[in-house]
Amino acid sequence: MKFFIDTANLEQIEEANNLGILDGVTTNPSLMAKEGITGGEAVNAHYEKICAIVDGDVSAEVISTDYVGMMKEAETLAEIAPNIVVKIPMIKEGVKAIKTLYDRGIRTNCTLVFSAGQAILAAKAGATYLSPFIGRIDDTNWDGIQLIREIAEIYAIQLYETQILAASIRSPRHIVESALAGADVVTCPLKSILGLFNHPLTDIGLEKFLADYKKG
Ligand code: G3P
Repeated sequence: MKFFIDTANLEQIEEANNLGILDGVTTNPSLMAKEGITGGEAVNAHYEKICAIVDGDVSAEVISTDYVGMMKEAETLAEIAPNIVVKIPMIKEGVKAIKTLYDRGIRTNCTLVFSAGQAILAAKAGATYLSPFIGRIDDTNWDGIQLIREIAEIYAIQLYETQILAASIRSPRHIVESALAGADVVTCPLKSILGLFNHPLTDIGLEKFLADYKKG
């Protein structure tokens, strides 16, 4: 399973990249706004900075909701760097754009996915990645991980090549469960990635090893 970081914060991207286990970055307009980055030129310049830090795929989201607007934005975004993947919302016009971009060899990440039916549509259109929002499904008292399981089974049966990118991750446990459910990629806040390191027995064990070494 690939690890992406879900942020537009350059320091956090660098910190995750320095761990040596980072495969890519996902962003969205809300994450950009959180860093104070708004407006087309500023956003595109920020993508350039992110692409200079990581070698892996960087998802850059369109803000148009019509086919023509999405295509125009997608072409501009794809020119920023070879590792840009254009993030397109799961709406009718978005699915049309994903299909045309697939035909033109531009990779896409279909975002705002909340059902297996939507996952089938995105795969049929040729999306490179599919982003089901696990945490937001859990917030509505449904089971986000169950959706990953269901999509993984459908994609395996139907031999769809779209990669399942578990998004809206809220905890280290979500990462473990996404891996178990068959996600190809997980995109997480830095806090959830770092949370995977934590175990009190590791800390206690290391402390004892170092204390014993000093005794000898
Ligand atoms: O990649 C999509 C993700 O950023 C959404 O996360 O926490 O806003 O539900 P969240």
